[in-house]
Amino acid sequence: MGWESSGQAWGSRALDWAYLFEPYARPANTAVFDQCHVTSGTRILDVGCGSGFALGLAASRGAHVAGLDASSALLDIARARTPDADLRLGDMNALPWDDDTFDVVTSFNAIWAGCETAVAEAARVLKPGGMFAMTFWGPPKRLGLLPYFMTIAANSPDSHVMATLGQSDTGRPGVAEAMIESAGLQVLERGAVAVTNEFPDLDTFTRGAIAAGPSFPAVEQIGEEAFRQALEAAFADAVVPGLGLRITSEFGWVSARK
Ligand SMILES: C[S@@+](CC[C@H](N)C(=O)[O-])C[C@H]1O[C@@H](n2cnc3c(N)ncnc32)[C@H](O)[C@@H]1O
Repeated sequence: MGWESSGQAWGSRALDWAYLFEPYARPANTAVFDQCHVTSGTRILDVGCGSGFALGLAASRGAHVAGLDASSALLDIARARTPDADLRLGDMNALPWDDDTFDVVTSFNAIWAGCETAVAEAARVLKPGGMFAMTFWGPPKRLGLLPYFMTIAANSPDSHVMATLGQSDTGRPGVAEAMIESAGLQVLERGAVAVTNEFPDLDTFTRGAIAAGPSFPAVEQIGEEAFRQALEAAFADAVVPGLGLRITSEFGWVSARK
């Protein structure tokens, strides 16, 4: 899928993604920013920044923030959240910034196995001595969202099923490290952090999940109502009376230095 098509899929329900789903990654955002020493004055770029929740956290530490995403609808929300940020529409494989610009480059679940060019671009725009870190999904046995991915796989065209499975390869030990080393960066550390999606009920959960980019091809293939029903069936057992849905998954991360 080209970057413009990815942007269309991720931006088709931008508000639902931004407000119902994106904040779940906060513990991963915080762990990575700590690892990369993001603090007052740090010049940071977030690649695949979505609607800018992570960038807002970096800005609250006093960092000078920049972000790139393929969706203009998500970037509009990022601009509202962090008006001073340098936010640009484009492809992570051709970053519109000069060499040696940033102290830190991050990417939260946007660079996957096979995206070597995107890591090389991140390395190019990093200053010498700068830090890079990327996150990805943890192993299937630690993914509370696994039934979501299985519902996608069962209802999407074959090409998208393969792309979704390819994303899960990124977390295998050594895969992200090899991508980073091939970009000329020195791998520092690998870690993992738990993130939790919280929803009051199944309706709100399905509204948020349908807004995620990978849902787009499934909705096109079987229709929104059928996909909603498939998601409701997959997560019905996750509803706890009085608590709603609390779905915990693992993000892995790898950090590196230029
Ligand atoms: C899983 S979302 C992650 C968004 C955000 N980083 C977060 O943590 O919520 C992946 C993001 O990558 C963006 N994206 C996908 N392909 C891209 C590309 N080739 N160039 C730039 N952004 C891309 C999508 O528009 C989407 O916002």
